[in-house]
Amino acid sequence: MDLHLDGRKAIVTGGSKGLGRAIAGELAREGADVAICSRDQEEVSQAGKELETHGRVVFARAADVTDPDQVKQFVADSASALGGIDILVNNAGRAHPGTFATLTDEDWKEDLDVKLFSMIRCSREVLPHMKDRGGGRIININAVQGKSPDPRFFATTTDRAACLAFTKTLSIELAPEGVLVNSVNIGFVVTPQWANIHQHRAPELSEDEFFTRMAEDDVPLGRFGNPDEVSGMVAFLASDRASYITGASIDIAGGMGRYI
Ligand SMILES: NC(=O)c1ccc[n+]([C@@H]2O[C@H](COP(=O)([O-])OP(=O)(O)OC[C@H]3O[C@@H](n4cnc5c(N)ncnc54)[C@H](OP(=O)(O)O)[C@@H]3O)[C@@H](O)[C@H]2O)c1
Repeated sequence: MDLHLDGRKAIVTGGSKGLGRAIAGELAREGADVAICSRDQEEVSQAGKELETHGRVVFARAADVTDPDQVKQFVADSASALGGIDILVNNAGRAHPGTFATLTDEDWKEDLDVKLFSMIRCSREVLPHMKDRGGGRIININAVQGKSPDPRFFATTTDRAACLAFTKTLSIELAPEGVLVNSVNIGFVVTPQWANIHQHRAPELSEDEFFTRMAEDDVPLGRFGNPDEVSGMVAFLASDRASYITGASIDIAGGMGRYI
């Protein structure tokens, strides 16, 4: 499908690796100019160099989405480098695995900051640019646990539910402005953050054994997903083919989530 993203201006937070990197690549392949950030300048510059192979304008810069000043600066610099902003993919984040018994107040605060407040800050900063261009798209990368509670991911479950509420409410407030806001809820997709979860939860198992056991227990399709099984949906939501979709919550989770 040709998604006609030629010349669209997109920001992908957390674009240096994992899902963000795949999403930035997919948007650039579809013709968008792309800005990415992460906290590691070297890693994000390297990812930016690879993105440039698609022949689009690329802006890659270190910025921490938990720091309001860095977010402001990154969005302003991205808008200057790309010539505007049409698309924001709020992807940066990481897991804080743990049960109610193990999570500290500090864990909870950090989790809320990197998940919910990063979406709030980045959305706030891009809005004037989207309004200048007559509309835009915000796509929030979320987790299926926000709808399907899992005590092993207690903070994720609680904070992602807040991200879903944020997405839906923002979609209603911004509909008159032509800014469409949607959530893509991930189940288990193989990315570098899973190396951390593996080490935290079952260091005695090999990576293969760990992924296989998790998938057997939790995923109806019986396997982890790959980042390119997510990036196509994000590009679709960013495109004109999704012009009547806002406030939607779409699972990419191999059937995880026991609800109707
Ligand atoms: N993979 C899954 O199965 C899964 C499941 C549910 C939800 N998700 C969500 O999907 C998103 C992407 O996850 P992933 O699996 O691709 O993780 P990943 O491989 O660890 O990549 C995360 C990206 O976000 C960046 N990042 C993390 N904290 C940041 C911060 N404070 N400021 C700026 N950038 C930051 C990372 O770079 P630096 O660390 O260098 O900053 C990296 O570029 C996350 O929000 C995650 O919670 C993933």
